[in-house]
Amino acid sequence: MAALRPRPNRNACSLRLRCERRRATAKVASSAPGWQMAVLALGLATIGPAGATGAATFSDQELQAKIQYCTYCHQPSGQGYVGSTPIPRLAGQQTDYFKNQLQAFIDRRRVNFFMFGVAHSLSPEMLAALADHFNTLNPPSLGGAPTELVEAGKKIFTEGVPDAKIPPCATCHGPEAKGNGQFPRLAGQLYPYIVKTLTNWDQERGQGGAEKPDTSAIMRPIAHSLTESQVKEVAAYLSTLE
Ligand code: HEC
Ligand code: HEC
Repeated sequence: MAALRPRPNRNACSLRLRCERRRATAKVASSAPGWQMAVLALGLATIGPAGATGAATFSDQELQAKIQYCTYCHQPSGQGYVGSTPIPRLAGQQTDYFKNQLQAFIDRRRVNFFMFGVAHSLSPEMLAALADHFNTLNPPSLGGAPTELVEAGKKIFTEGVPDAKIPPCATCHGPEAKGNGQFPRLAGQLYPYIVKTLTNWDQERGQGGAEKPDTSAIMRPIAHSLTESQVKEVAAYLSTLE
């Protein structure tokens, strides 16, 4: 994988951007529940310290500086960036999902070289404030996916793939793919990021082992069951949504 190249006109990604070394981590215990069970469980799940609310322990200036730092890679309106490593759209993302993912990077339940370095210094209060900020943004989608795949992708999103026992994505991600709580928004997400994420699910998500099971287990069987061409189709569709 080539090095990450964020916007050239800023010096921010001064983290030394090297390739992420994938850990051949043990797979999550095979006790992952079926998705129906998992959906029920999700309603009861707590999000831990990231969900805590309380008096801000930082100034507005500190928050603005942190936001600016995030946007060096995720771009000023959180619209994402298509480079050699795709940097996902954060704009309009569900706050519960957002906080849980940052916590997952900190806990190493989700593995990513760049985001571990970013997330591990964030306090629960800062993390919540950042989630609120990016949730309010609504830039247009970047687009750029192969348009001939969009129609087939829409069918997968709304109807699932019954032969492969894949439920409609819309049942969890919402009819407009805007997400809800721990179900992420997918509308306008970058095509290459969705393709990469669904393809590499087992190497990146749910890496906490049996002691730290998480919401990634719900998507796991779905990511597995999608074929390579179905992944591209549904990613193309989602990336066009506003
Ligand atoms: C050095 C570049 C860089 C910086 C700076 C950065 N990010 Fe990221 N971020 C990434 C990359 C790359 C990913 C995709 C990780 C992956 O592929 O799993 C990501 C993923 C994320 C995700 C998960 C998105 C999803 O849809 O699951 C969140 C949330 C996030 N970043 C928030 C932040 C916040 C908040 C900041 C600022 C405090 C920040 N990022 C700063 C590069 C960066
Ligand atoms: C049973 C509920 C459910 C269904 C059905 C479902 N998802 Fe998900 N999906 C989730 C959950 C929960 C997450 C968050 C996983 C985590 O916390 O790591 C997720 C995460 C994702 C992500 C990662 C988003 C990001 O920003 O990194 C993608 C992409 C995705 N789903 C695509 C799909 C597609 C495509 C379908 C249909 C083929 C689908 N999902 C069907 C529950 C579902």
